[in-house]
Amino acid sequence: MSYIHGYSEEEQNRLIQQNEVLAPYIYQWHDLADHRHIVEIGCGVGAQMITLLHQYPELYMTGIEHAPRQLQRAEVHLSHFPAFAGRYAFLEGDAEVIRPRFDHPVDGALMVWVLEHVRNPESILKHTRSWLPEDCPLWVTEVFHPGFHTWPRSEAIMKYWTDTLTYQSSLGGDPAIGIRLNNLLVDAGFEQVIARPHLFYLDRTNPAERDKMLTYWLDLMRSAFHETAAAGYTSLECWQEAEHDMRELRKRDDAVFYYTFFQATGRTPVQKRP
Ligand SMILES: C[S@@+](CC[C@H](N)C(=O)[O-])C[C@H]1O[C@@H](n2cnc3c(N)ncnc32)[C@H](O)[C@@H]1O
Repeated sequence: MSYIHGYSEEEQNRLIQQNEVLAPYIYQWHDLADHRHIVEIGCGVGAQMITLLHQYPELYMTGIEHAPRQLQRAEVHLSHFPAFAGRYAFLEGDAEVIRPRFDHPVDGALMVWVLEHVRNPESILKHTRSWLPEDCPLWVTEVFHPGFHTWPRSEAIMKYWTDTLTYQSSLGGDPAIGIRLNNLLVDAGFEQVIARPHLFYLDRTNPAERDKMLTYWLDLMRSAFHETAAAGYTSLECWQEAEHDMRELRKRDDAVFYYTFFQATGRTPVQKRP
């Protein structure tokens, strides 16, 4: 399946920078301190692994990824950190079919910004549940892209944004998947499922945070341009107008940035024994 952000080096670097901005939000509610081996499904270039291996010095991680170019980059990124030596492994494979084998017992699994890009999130979740050990937590973080709004509203920004979402949907992805996380985890057989929205509501009362998010958002929008335009879903003119309005927003004292993403946790069932 094509991938809206593509696999260029620029995009691979963006994934690392993105996590420097978003990690404090992603892990605000997840305390992984008691975990020793977490598997990240769809690890990309290792952005989450870098964050977590730093944060939890006792942690070992395995990253599963189906794109060899991402894995090669992830290997390079993680090798820059001497403190990570011997604390991670990568497996190349499709999350929908892989039957991973591990040297260390697994006690947690993570998916961040992956299900939005796949055709069959249900089947990936069911399959993941089938090989995880019993009573094992899964933490999922996902987008809800229709939840992006600004004040003042810009037709150019909303037009370009909608173009990229339409393209992502045409690829079989779901840019609104966040609100389905509760249902998806329950249907896949996870138990003790809890899902919740995570709100960004930034205005002049928090200008530094607002500026950080607007800057990040502009990069995110730009990252979808090449693939979306090449497929005929947007144009250079549309992107340039949207970019112009995003830059204007950043100059305004009264600008508002609003966005919601979703997170869910669930546990694999405990087998009933006679
Ligand atoms: C947006 S990136 C997120 C990467 C990483 N989780 C992060 O937060 O930086 C999504 C990644 O999921 C991978 N992916 C998508 N479908 C997959 C599948 N079926 N099996 C394994 N990896 C998959 C893509 O190749 C891509 O690297």
